[in-house]
Parts: sequence; structure tokens; C-alpha cells
Amino acid sequence: IPVDPFDLVIFGATGDLARRKILPGLFRRFCAGQIPPDARIVGAARSEIDTAAFHQLVREAIDEFGGKTPCGDAGLEGFLARLAYVPIDAKGTSGWSELCSLLRPDMVRAFYFSVGPSLFGAIAERLHSNGLATDDSRIVVEKPFGHDLATAKALNATLAQHFREDQIYRIDHYLGKETVQNLMAVRFGNMLFEPLWNAQYIDHVQITVAETVGVGGRGAYYDTSGAMRDMVQNHLMQLLCLIAMEPPAKFDPDAVRDEKLKVIRALDPVDFHHIVRGQYGPTDSQPGYREHVENPRSTTESFVALKCHISNWRWANTPFYLRTGKRLKARSSEIAVVFKDTPHSIFGEEAGRHRNVLSILLQPNEGITLQVTIKEPGPGGMRLVDVPLDMTFAEALGPDGEDVPDAYERLIMDVIRGNQTLFMRGDEVEAAWAWTDPIIAGWERRGEVPEPYDSGSTGPEEALMLMHRDGRKWREIR
Ligand code: BG6
Repeated sequence: IPVDPFDLVIFGATGDLARRKILPGLFRRFCAGQIPPDARIVGAARSEIDTAAFHQLVREAIDEFGGKTPCGDAGLEGFLARLAYVPIDAKGTSGWSELCSLLRPDMVRAFYFSVGPSLFGAIAERLHSNGLATDDSRIVVEKPFGHDLATAKALNATLAQHFREDQIYRIDHYLGKETVQNLMAVRFGNMLFEPLWNAQYIDHVQITVAETVGVGGRGAYYDTSGAMRDMVQNHLMQLLCLIAMEPPAKFDPDAVRDEKLKVIRALDPVDFHHIVRGQYGPTDSQPGYREHVENPRSTTESFVALKCHISNWRWANTPFYLRTGKRLKARSSEIAVVFKDTPHSIFGEEAGRHRNVLSILLQPNEGITLQVTIKEPGPGGMRLVDVPLDMTFAEALGPDGEDVPDAYERLIMDVIRGNQTLFMRGDEVEAAWAWTDPIIAGWERRGEVPEPYDSGSTGPEEALMLMHRDGRKWREIR
């Protein structure tokens, strides 16, 4: 469905995120026919290049990161025709009037702040002082949204000087992933799951986001952040909210975000015995974390596993296990909802005891599987086996899963549509920091050093113990 004509300005248009995600994502939406002919995309950044050089940069970005582009060279030229570039000084005066002259009245207007948070205030202020921000303009801001509660509050306050909350789109790209939204469809669109979705029937929930990549060229940022700030405070927390929230009355931004906020606020503080931090070491051929970040004494974690509880009626005493790390065995992200054992086995213990597991796979392939127990086929008597009832989107949508849009594509289109449902509200972000801050402060106070783990492993041994002690085990990372 095409969106209304729009003017979209991308600050930081020559940067990494724009090249990897935003520009290729917009191109794919263009190829899908969703971008109207009179839409205009303006790149703005410090580099003193002209529009032709920007077009070349976009061509290269699409070539490298665009994946299979369904509309070929002619399509690419059509897309580029919509793109202009303005060199701009975010903290100064140059470029702003030129930008002003490119924007048209009576169009949806969005400004994507694909820049570090230290520039948010300056850009927001100049959008106003130069008369660029209309009453209906939207701004899109990226993580990291703050370093802790205090800085997140300060950022919220800065943005609030110039924009209303309903104009601010805080991106967490995990919310744009197809399966993550499907999770809501599965929970709230079926009669089957919701009656069982509580402490009475669910034994525990596991959320794993495992990556094979290390910190790459982002060492300087990452070493001041770590897995807790980089992944848990935002992506894993958002997944946890969608699993645990009460059914919102409507699928509308505030109804959904109110429910998510209640989950975060109901989280108990984490017991320090229930957290494991890890840091990957070197291998024969690859440097370890400390070499990557060029900090031989770094105590920043590249892995976290923890157990937490949500103190409310629905989830009393149901553990939620969260785990994320870099340089692990496989790139694999899964939410697993593990149901309780049947209260009594009519087939006897020798038939085996089995559990239903609803597995929501985010990566590498997106899909949802429900593990159910059936009789093992064949004449061998009544033995039970687990088999998956499977729904992989690639199969549902086409041979290569080609139609599954990247998270950024969907989210940018939602900005144009003016739909904030999949964006974080200011109070949600603050509540998430309020929960993670004491954990991080505790590590600092205790001078804790992360447990080393081997690259290519499943993380430190202690993370396995976290589950074993409870008589449970992690799902396999594969
Ligand atoms: C980003 C983190 O937000 O998410 C990165 O800063 C991480 O460290 C990335 O690698 C993971 O995203 P995805 O979509 O590849 O799982």
C-alpha cells in the first residue's frame, strides 16, 4: 500500500547506518511500489559532496547492502531521481537555508536523526529556529537512547523542548522484525494460546539473541556500552514486553505501549546470583574482545545471561531467562515459551515426558514453531516424540522469503504513516534504564570482571549453570 507523498531528511546520510540499512531499505520499498512518485529524500551530512556524489554513495550502498533488488538498474535510477543532498553543519549555520528550500509545504515531513545523541539537541533546535519543523513533522531517533537513566531523561527533555511525544519515533529495530510483530498476531489473534499464557501453564520463557560477529569496528562505542546497554536494555527488553504484556484493548500506539510499560515496571530487581557476564577471548586466528576494543584491561561484557521475574498475577514465579552475546557459536535468535509438563502421564514414564514449546525464531530464518507431542510412528508401542508444527515465513510467502521486509523498511514506512505502535515511548525507555542501571552499578561497585568464554562457544560455563541449577536447560544455539 503506497504511503502519502513525503519529504524525508536523513541527517548522517553518509554514515554507516544510512548506508547499511536506511537507504537500501528505502530502495526496497521503492521497488515494492510503496514510495509515491513525488516523495523526496534529502541526505544531509557534514561531508562537502554534491548530489551526484551522494547518488554514487547510494549506488554503492545498495550494491553492497541492498540484497536482491527486485527492480534493477532502471529502478535504481528512478529511486536516485528522488534523492538530493545538502552538506550541513548540525551545530552551525551552514546548509540550513538550502535544506529549507528543498522541503515543500503540505507534505508529510520526517527528519531521521541517524547521528550520535550528542547532536540531537542541536539538530532539534535548528529545525525549529529555521522554521523547518512543522506542527506535524516527525523525528526519528536511534539508539543508544542514553547511557543510563539520567542521560535518557536529559535526552527526552531536550527533544521535548521542540517536539511533542507523538512526533518522536524512537527506533528499536527489533520491533520492526516480521516475527516480532507476528508474535502479537499469534498471541492476540488466536484463541489457542492466550488462555494458556500464564504462570499456571508456562514453565519458563527463554530469550536468546546470539551473534557470531564480534564488536567489529565499533569498539570505541561498544567498550563504553557492553551487552547490557547495547542489547538487553532495549532489544531483549522489548521482546520480553511483547511476550509478557497483557492484551492491549486495541492495536494502537498508546494501548500497546501502556501495557509494555507495565511489564517493565513489574520486573523485580535482578539478584546478582542470577546474572552471568562474559567476555570473548582470542582464538588462534582471531583476536579476542580486548584486542578488538584496544583496551587490554577492559571489563566490559560481550555476553550476558540472566534470570528475572515479573511480579504480577499472570507471571508470579515464572522465570524469564535472557541471554545475548557476541562471537557465539551461531547467529540465532529465539524466544522459546516452554510449557509445563502434563500433570500426569497416562503412558507411563517409559513413554517419555515431553513438553510443548512455542519457539519464535527471529534469526537467521524467521518463523514460529509449536513443538507438540505425538506417538512415535511405527509398531514400537506407545512411545512419545516431539514434532514441530511449523510456520516459516519464507515458505508462507515465497521461495526465498524475499517478501519479508527488513525491520528498517517497515519502521520507516510507519513513520511516514504516522504510526508509533512499533516505536518506544519516552517513559518506556526510562523505565528500562531504571531496571538496568542498578545491575550495571552493582557490577561497577563490586569491581566484577566478566567470565572469559571461547569464541564460537555458547558463552561461559556459568551461563549453563544458571539454568542447570533450576533443573532446566537452554535451547540449543544453532
Ligand atoms: C544493534 C546492536 O542494536 O543490534 C549491535 O548495537 C547488534 O551490537 C545488532 O549487533 C543486532 O541486530 P540484528 O538485527 O542483526 O540482530
